[in-house]
Amino acid sequence: MYSLVSKLLFLLFLCYSMICLSSCMPSYELDRFTSEEEVLGLFQLWQKEYGREYENLNDEAKRFDIFKDNLKYIRETNARRESAFDYSLGLNEFADLSREEFSKIFTPDMGPLPKDKVDLNDEDDDSCPDAPPSIDWRKKGAVTKVKYQGHCGSCWAFAATGAIEGINAIVSGRRSVSVSEQELVDCVEEAKGCSGGWYHNAFQYVKNNEGIAKEADYLYTAENGTCKASEIKRKAVTLSGYKTVTYQSEKSLYCAVSRQPVSVALDARDFQFYKEGIYNGENCTGKLYTSHAVLIVGYDTVADRDYWIVKNSWGESWGMKGYMFIKRNTGNKDGVCLINDYGAYPTKEEEEAVKPEYYYSSI
Ligand SMILES: *[C@@H]1O[C@H](CO)[C@@H](O)[C@H](O)[C@H]1NC(C)=O
Ligand SMILES: *[C@@H]1O[C@H](CO)[C@@H](O)[C@H](O)[C@H]1NC(C)=O
Repeated sequence: MYSLVSKLLFLLFLCYSMICLSSCMPSYELDRFTSEEEVLGLFQLWQKEYGREYENLNDEAKRFDIFKDNLKYIRETNARRESAFDYSLGLNEFADLSREEFSKIFTPDMGPLPKDKVDLNDEDDDSCPDAPPSIDWRKKGAVTKVKYQGHCGSCWAFAATGAIEGINAIVSGRRSVSVSEQELVDCVEEAKGCSGGWYHNAFQYVKNNEGIAKEADYLYTAENGTCKASEIKRKAVTLSGYKTVTYQSEKSLYCAVSRQPVSVALDARDFQFYKEGIYNGENCTGKLYTSHAVLIVGYDTVADRDYWIVKNSWGESWGMKGYMFIKRNTGNKDGVCLINDYGAYPTKEEEEAVKPEYYYSSI
């Protein structure tokens, strides 16, 4: 009797999950799937949710094995949570990729930052007595919607556009306008397009080129292309230059974020299944390297836990609608996953703000 009831409940639960696997299934529910049969059922639900089809049964079996390993890692990590603020992992669109496969596509080694770009900070960049205790640039209209880089190592371009959109909105006093990652991928010669690069070079390009196109005028393709910047008549945003955050100075990063969204590079190999909460870097250990670039859009504190608010470029189904919280003030000079080390942000003079009619002309 009991088993019949529980089977029925489980079926009901499956139906419910079918409607919304990723959005409404709390991560602890994953513990319900224990037998091989149940895990297979979960895999099939997941495939439906993400429209994943495989070429043949061999391939499907291989993906199922990887899915099982990932599910185990997700559960073990979630079992270590001690409070509701601790981070948790979940099944997302990357659940059938091994950690190695994921890393190859989304978090490859960015290589060293060119030496001449390490320290372009102001002398006093770690002094900001008037910085607010918390800030969220999203609430100030300085952040565009979350974007998706696809299978292209262009994270550096997304981290750059986010910072450009931010400073432009702040200086012009208007809502952020989305600018083109593809222009950066195609035109920044010091970077390698879909094979990686640094946002510093993107800022320099926008300054030299006297502006960057609006997203809608130079669409994203997630592939290397030839530079079409000369065909773009109207530039959406210009820059005066850029500055860097002092290496290993969390105070310098904090001061920068109190003024505008900031691009950072970090080791994101462990971010594959991040779902929600404050990521503390417990598995961001060993030999670290910069494998991803993101945008810090604010900072806050909850129950004595300080964190950064981070915008990623892996779409809205990853993390908290595309966002992540990363712990700050850990005492580690590099910060969680090297987040303190390579921050940079564009600068823009007041008079360079684009005229208002531009923004409304194409709506
Ligand atoms: C993209 O172009 C760069 C050169 O600009 C090259 O180094 C890189 O290998 C290309 N990547 C891909 C994925 O084609
Ligand atoms: C992650 O960190 C925890 C706690 O330090 C450890 O027990 C676990 O083995 C780590 N997992 C991996 C995959 O490194």
